[in-house]
Formats: sequence, C-alpha cells, structure tokens
Amino acid sequence: MKFFLDSASIDDIRSANELGILAGVTTNPSLVSKEGVSFHERLKEITDEVSGSVSAEVISEDAQGMVKEGKELAAIAPHITVKVPMTLEGLKAVKKFSELNIKTNVTLVFNANQALLAARAGASYVSPFLGRLDDIGHDGMDLIATISEMFNRHHIETEIIAASIRHPLHVTDAAMNGAHIATLPYKVLGQLVKHPLTDQGIEKFLADWNKQN
Ligand code: E4P
Repeated sequence: MKFFLDSASIDDIRSANELGILAGVTTNPSLVSKEGVSFHERLKEITDEVSGSVSAEVISEDAQGMVKEGKELAAIAPHITVKVPMTLEGLKAVKKFSELNIKTNVTLVFNANQALLAARAGASYVSPFLGRLDDIGHDGMDLIATISEMFNRHHIETEIIAASIRHPLHVTDAAMNGAHIATLPYKVLGQLVKHPLTDQGIEKFLADWNKQN
C-alpha cells in the first residue's frame, strides 16, 4: 500500500515529501478553503513539489460543468487527477475524462456498488470514506475489504484509495484489507512514526553512551 497526503497545506506536503514516502496528494474543497489561497495557484505549488498523482476536486454538479472544470485543472500539470463526486453526472464526466486520457478519482464512495460503477465508467481511483462510515455506526473497513475482493475477482485495475482516515489502526487495516493507497491527514502521518518504546530506547542508548564518554 502506498501513502498519499490528504492536505492542501504546502508546508505539510513539503515536510511529508522530505520523508521519501509520498506517492501523491489528495485535496478537497474543505481542505482548500481552510488554506485561504487561490485553488489553481496552490495546485501549481503542490504539483511542482510532488511528482505523483495530485487529486483536485471539481465543484460543478452537472457533467458538462465538471468536464470544463476538470480540463482546466488537468491543464495545470500532467499529474493532476480530477476528483469527481459519485453521482450520475459524475459518472458521465468520468467516462468523458477517460476518453480524454485524464485520470479521475471518484470520491464520496460509501458502498461497493458505487465503487463498481465508478470503475466501470473508467475511474483511475475510487475513494471509499472509512471514517465517515465509522461515524454513523457502519464498518468502513468492511467496505474496503469488499471492494478489494470485488475488484480482484473481476480483474478491475482501478486503485482503491482508503480515505477519511482518522487514526493509525485505519492505516494498518486498510493495508491488510487490500487498499492500494491510504490518503493520510498530516497528523496521522506523524502518529504512524511514533512508538513510546522507540523514544525510550533512544533515551536509554544516549544515556548509556554519555556514561562512557
Ligand atoms: C480524501 O480524498 C477525502 O477528501 C478525505 O479523506 C475526507 O476526509 P474526512 O472525512 O476526514 O473529511
């Protein structure tokens, strides 16, 4: 499983990229609006920093509007992936983008049939939202497992992005259940690194070293 960062913060994206683990970035309108910057300018900065897929979401609700917006986004850099909501209009747009060789990430996926439809329409990625399902008492991880099995059984190449990740256990479980990618908030990336025994171990090694030197 690869790591994407779920962020529009250029500082966070740069720090994550220094770790050598960053395979891409996902953004959404909420993340971008928090930054208070021009969307297109920020996307340019992100695509200059990161060489992997950078998802940029359309806000139009009709296919024609999505395609117009998506073409403008895709013109920013060749590794922009147009993020499209899981609706009937979204599927029409995905088909069009697929004909234009523009990559797509179908977002707001909450059941396996939505994922299958998105894949068959030509989506490059599907993004099931784990945390938001858990929030309403459903099992987000079960959805990842089902989509993974379904795609494997039918030889579907669309990649599964585990999205709406809230904590480190989501990351481990997403990897074990077949997600190709987990898109992480910066905070969760930091949590993945930490272990109290690692910190204690470093402290002890240094203390022992300093006794001798
Ligand atoms: C990713 O593509 C999604 O935009 C994101 O993971 C949503 O996360 P949230 O449910 O924490 O807003």
